[in-house]
Amino acid sequence: MLKRKMEGALNEQINKELYSAYLYLSMSAYSEHIGLPGFANWFMIQYKEEVDHAMKIYNYINDQGGQVKLKAIDEPTAEFKDALDMFQKTLEHEQFITKSINELVDLGIKEKDHATQIFLQWFVTEQIEEEKNDNDILAKLKLAGDKGSGLFMIDKELAARVYTPIQTSAE
Ligand code: FEO
Repeated sequence: MLKRKMEGALNEQINKELYSAYLYLSMSAYSEHIGLPGFANWFMIQYKEEVDHAMKIYNYINDQGGQVKLKAIDEPTAEFKDALDMFQKTLEHEQFITKSINELVDLGIKEKDHATQIFLQWFVTEQIEEEKNDNDILAKLKLAGDKGSGLFMIDKELAARVYTPIQTSAE
């Protein structure tokens, strides 16, 4: 059974994950617009993964007898300077999400909510992966340059990313 405070905090996290999805969908659209189909693919998959993250929390709240309450999703930015700018903003956003997950774990400890602490471990690990991926791509963009053939090569590499659905329910 979820305590009220934890239920509220998890509902907030659903909103943050859905905003993340919306932000990456916006980046996918922008990439398409500026002629970078590989980047568009990468961000489209990121969008799907963020929806999975939201659904994982959604299902957990239901499984624990809580109530899911959806909130308004903020409008994401539609314009970016270039590919480097998108990945800088992606990394900054993921650092914000990592902080938010850590605060949820802190609340789980404070509330002696062992089940939620265990549930959140998946997200703690996922955030390490997310930040690493963003840092790797950022490093390549800085090294290869975010123009011309370097950018073309990175776009080709990002086109190869494949969506693998994340398990969003306990069963
Ligand atoms: Fe759901 Fe990208 O963190």
